[in-house]
Amino acid sequence: MTEQAPAQILVRPYSPDDRARVREICFLTGYMGEPIDWQWRDQESFADMFTGYYTDVEPESAFVAELDGEVSGYLLGCVDSDRAWSPGSVAGRHILRRGIAFRPGTAAMIWRTFGDALADIVTGRTDPRKLEFADSRWPAHLHIDLLPPARGHGIGRRLMDCWFARLRAHRITGCHLGTLAENTGAIAFFESVGFRVHGPALPIPGPRRREGGRLHSQIMVTEVEALAGEDHT
Ligand SMILES: CC(C)(COP(=O)(O)OP(=O)(O)OC[C@H]1O[C@@H](n2cnc3c(N)ncnc32)[C@H](O)[C@@H]1OP(=O)(O)O)[C@@H](O)C(=O)NCCC(=O)NCCS
Repeated sequence: MTEQAPAQILVRPYSPDDRARVREICFLTGYMGEPIDWQWRDQESFADMFTGYYTDVEPESAFVAELDGEVSGYLLGCVDSDRAWSPGSVAGRHILRRGIAFRPGTAAMIWRTFGDALADIVTGRTDPRKLEFADSRWPAHLHIDLLPPARGHGIGRRLMDCWFARLRAHRITGCHLGTLAENTGAIAFFESVGFRVHGPALPIPGPRRREGGRLHSQIMVTEVEALAGEDHT
């Protein structure tokens, strides 16, 4: 019987050469860690919504993980969320530039987004504007995604360690993230690295579960404590 060699793992800062791979991973993990193509068939616009700001404006807050020499995951951070592009505004740009409101593979989601948002307001279920989280106690935020073979090796925790070290170095004392309430594995992971659920789960206009029904946004937050004896001067 041949024994399998342990996977070689490298966690390192992002480099511009990683950009295409990061965008590909974003698309391959966009539905709670699974490919998003069954409800959004346009990698370019999807990757722009969820990675564009981080790779192109704040690359110094991005980290990648290599598994056996291949980039297999990333953490994309933003120290001041006021600066980040909202996915909605990026989608708006792509409606104009790439016609995604009229192309098969994206049009259905876009029109459903408008329909859901209108229905939520009219029925008083929720105000979609509440999905735009902003709270000065937790100014930073992040996205983290690993391809399936990279999961369960402690890589997520190592990427978070890099991110928290960066936040401490910049004296940023709080961080939030938005995940899906249905993504229970991700919530368990974030809790194990110090985050807690903040506020109610809110229905997201547009996307659907595979089995049908709405998906819900869940904000999580954590304080970032300065390490004892750490000197930021
Ligand atoms: C969520 C994710 C980043 C976790 O990374 P990971 O490398 O698999 O996690 P780690 O191996 O570092 O695990 C760290 C801790 O989280 C826990 N954890 C990780 N995934 C978990 C899961 N699915 N269910 C329960 N606990 C989990 C581990 O048990 C471990 O706990 P411990 O250190 O107390 O023993 C990764 O699984 C992933 O990319 N998933 C798909 C994409 C996704 O959902 N991203 C988040 C979108 S907001």
